[in-house]
Amino acid sequence: MDYRMCWLEYRGLPADVAKKLKDWFSSVSILEPGSSVLKDEIRRFSERSIGITPGFYSRPLKKEKYIMVGRLESLPIKFDENLGEEGFMLRTLEWNGSKILLVTGETKKALVYGIFDLMKIIRLGEDIEKMNVLEKPKAKFRMLNHCDNLDGTIERGYAGNSIFFKDNRIIINQRTKDYARLLASIGINGVVINNVNVKKREVYLIDSIYLKRLKKLADIFREYGIKIYLSINFASPVYLRGLDTADPLDERVAHWWREKAREIYDHIPDFGGFLVKADSEFNPGPHMFGRTHAEGANMLARALAPFGGVVIWRAFVYNCLQDWRDYKTDRAKAAYDNFKPLDGQFDDNVIIQIKYGPMDFQVREPVNPLFGGMERTNQILELQITQEYTGQQIHLCFLGNLWKEILEFDTFAKGEGSYVKRIVDGTLFDRKNNGFAGVSNVGDSVNWTGHDLAQANLYAFGRLAWNPDEEIERIVEEWIKLTFGDDEKVLENVSYMLMKSHRTYEKYTTPFGLGWMVNPGHHYGPNPEGYEYSKWGTYHRANWEAIGVDRTSRGTGYTLQYHSPWKEIYDDINTCPEDLLLFFHRVRYDHRLKSGKTLLQTIYDLHFEGVEEVEEFIKKWEELKDRVPPDIFERVKERLHMQLEHAKEWRDVINTYFYRRTGIPDEKGRKIYP
Ligand code: GCU
Repeated sequence: MDYRMCWLEYRGLPADVAKKLKDWFSSVSILEPGSSVLKDEIRRFSERSIGITPGFYSRPLKKEKYIMVGRLESLPIKFDENLGEEGFMLRTLEWNGSKILLVTGETKKALVYGIFDLMKIIRLGEDIEKMNVLEKPKAKFRMLNHCDNLDGTIERGYAGNSIFFKDNRIIINQRTKDYARLLASIGINGVVINNVNVKKREVYLIDSIYLKRLKKLADIFREYGIKIYLSINFASPVYLRGLDTADPLDERVAHWWREKAREIYDHIPDFGGFLVKADSEFNPGPHMFGRTHAEGANMLARALAPFGGVVIWRAFVYNCLQDWRDYKTDRAKAAYDNFKPLDGQFDDNVIIQIKYGPMDFQVREPVNPLFGGMERTNQILELQITQEYTGQQIHLCFLGNLWKEILEFDTFAKGEGSYVKRIVDGTLFDRKNNGFAGVSNVGDSVNWTGHDLAQANLYAFGRLAWNPDEEIERIVEEWIKLTFGDDEKVLENVSYMLMKSHRTYEKYTTPFGLGWMVNPGHHYGPNPEGYEYSKWGTYHRANWEAIGVDRTSRGTGYTLQYHSPWKEIYDDINTCPEDLLLFFHRVRYDHRLKSGKTLLQTIYDLHFEGVEEVEEFIKKWEELKDRVPPDIFERVKERLHMQLEHAKEWRDVINTYFYRRTGIPDEKGRKIYP
């Protein structure tokens, strides 16, 4: 098997650093039985980065310097810190005549996090003599959602085939373990291994034929503090048991799920729970039986509750059979309209998973108003790490900046300071079961993510889920140093590329919150009217003089779903943030923006600029030849050139579309196709 370990490639450290570390790493006392995972990681790091094999002991030592790893309760030294289930502490101290570097926490899982963090900060140059770290994750659920199918394909996957499934079988090999290592190192604690669209064979994943193998998978992930979850089909009792209904209020159905839960937990005692896409894009759900989402979710939740499981219920519910001639229905309003009235009706072990925006992971959307709308419901923020609408891992598009903006968005739900990040960490509404879900960008390609630099998206997701207050610049710097080492030029150029790339992609595709304009189905490449007359509810309604949907109080009323002052800010074309102008307003092409330029001229300009910025990325990358591993250099270079070609295609198709619509030429006379 040939793959790289991303940010966990332990390269040799500079001789002087390694020399200092040798004294510490030659003796490691692990006061935790059954801790092969901790040992393995420490050994791997020591051998590769420092060049020694540590001696491992299971008791405190009498040595000048050594490392001690153990749960708070098994330490010979007492601390009062409350670290919670997942928090850890790294501290250098003197005890009993020795200098000790202590790695501690309240659980085994916390020790795993502590060890990964120790390696990380040492690799980032932290002085081991002065360690003093106390870390606790802010959000409880830090999940990845895989869209993997049992046949090995991945819906919206751009990095090869599934690492979990092949030919209807569950794969377990060294890579499974290495994946768990990667995820634990960024604090991920839950993985949904299969696609939310549970069709065909996947319905059987909760059947006895798969449970033995799932248990093995769960055993591996458990060692790294990660729980396994499954996406399920709401109509499973019909498919698997032959019941004639899946009505959540039918006792036979509820009974079937209770038995099913028992069977699953017999195999996997710490099974995480179910992810459910119900009444959404042709997946069955409670609406089919005249029941509400709350009735459907609670029925499942009650089956899982005795075992500590949760139901994660998606809010991605809308009418996907809309008529484009219908100007009243607005897909953007759907999540809020469906779920807001149910606020307070969900059981404690139900969590509503909400996509960041009201549509579907476009390059820019406003934050979903449901976040500030439900005060009595657990919520998970769903982000898309896989780049379905952001260049499919052919284009460089680092998403950390966008995610950070979402997390920093102030919903004003409880007045100023009601940030999304305070909702997903549970503090704003004082709720326990909240968090993050990222739709995974991982497959079985050598670099896991197709584009080597797309690893930064996975890394940033984990880091933000652990701590949404973290600065994005710092996360980027960490990722670059851990992945490529300490070369200043690499740091400078790669961070420049990453930090700029989302804006660049937005410029040459669909700026101003316009979205869509992609080829239907696979969603790659420009097609200005690809979704214009379709049933999916995604229209821009461009004519010769204006474009955009009026979502204000005078139009579809979408703006009314926000709290003040957003309601008013978005409602007024003069105060609406320009980034989102065409999401909220129908705007004439000759409308003057704050820059004094017309909307149309700005659209032309941005598309030319976007392409120039990709040319600049290529130059920046070329400067790194011989500074990054040659295979990575070549792969990224190849993708950047594809990106350039495809960015030009975007530029020319979109500019031409607007030129043909309006007949208004580019003021600068650049090439547009008449
Ligand atoms: C998008 C995507 C689908 C996916 C869906 C979802 O529409 O194109 O592939 O299943 O989102 O998140 O449920």
